[in-house]
Amino acid sequence: MNTFNIRFQDKLVMTLNEDNNPIQIDCCLPVLGEGNNRIVYDMGDYILKVAKSAIASMYNQNEIRLWNYLRESSSKIKFNRIIDADENGYWYVAEKANTGGDAMKNALKYIEWLDYSDNAGYDRNGKLTIVDAENVYVKDIEYLLQKRII
Ligand SMILES: Nc1ncnc2c1ncn2[C@@H]1O[C@H](COP(=O)(O)OP(=O)(O)OP(=O)(O)O)[C@@H](O)[C@H]1O
Ligand SMILES: [Mg+2]
Repeated sequence: MNTFNIRFQDKLVMTLNEDNNPIQIDCCLPVLGEGNNRIVYDMGDYILKVAKSAIASMYNQNEIRLWNYLRESSSKIKFNRIIDADENGYWYVAEKANTGGDAMKNALKYIEWLDYSDNAGYDRNGKLTIVDAENVYVKDIEYLLQKRII
């Protein structure tokens, strides 16, 4: 079997099989959270989000596009700020948000089809931040901006 390794610094080694699905993930960082699709590691002020499947790498790429599209242009909401990313989306480094509290409830006021789990928080400036935007696309954000919802 032909396998392929993807690395982040000296902290992460992922082994992918021929279908580009990760078959092994070795990371020395503590786990902050885990969903069905990604494992999130704690880097202090930042997080490392690692795809558990080829599809999850596309969710990561979508979130990279969302951050790059909206950045800080809405005063109401943002996507987690991406600092560094694998070219194929198998991992990205983002600002850590302070999740919990009323963040999810507030995020749903703007993007009502977000998954209701621990998918929103506040950044260091207290700005509402979406950390899991699997089912949100740039065209949705275009629409919400146009309608001045966000
Ligand atoms: N930027 C962040 N700052 C702080 N915590 C985060 C961040 N990103 C993710 N997390 C935490 O890690 C958890 C898992 O991340 P995420 O929701 O992106 O993974 P997922 O596999 O897509 O989840 P799900 O299966 O719920 O769709 C989140 O619910 C959240 O608690
Ligand atoms: Mg989630």
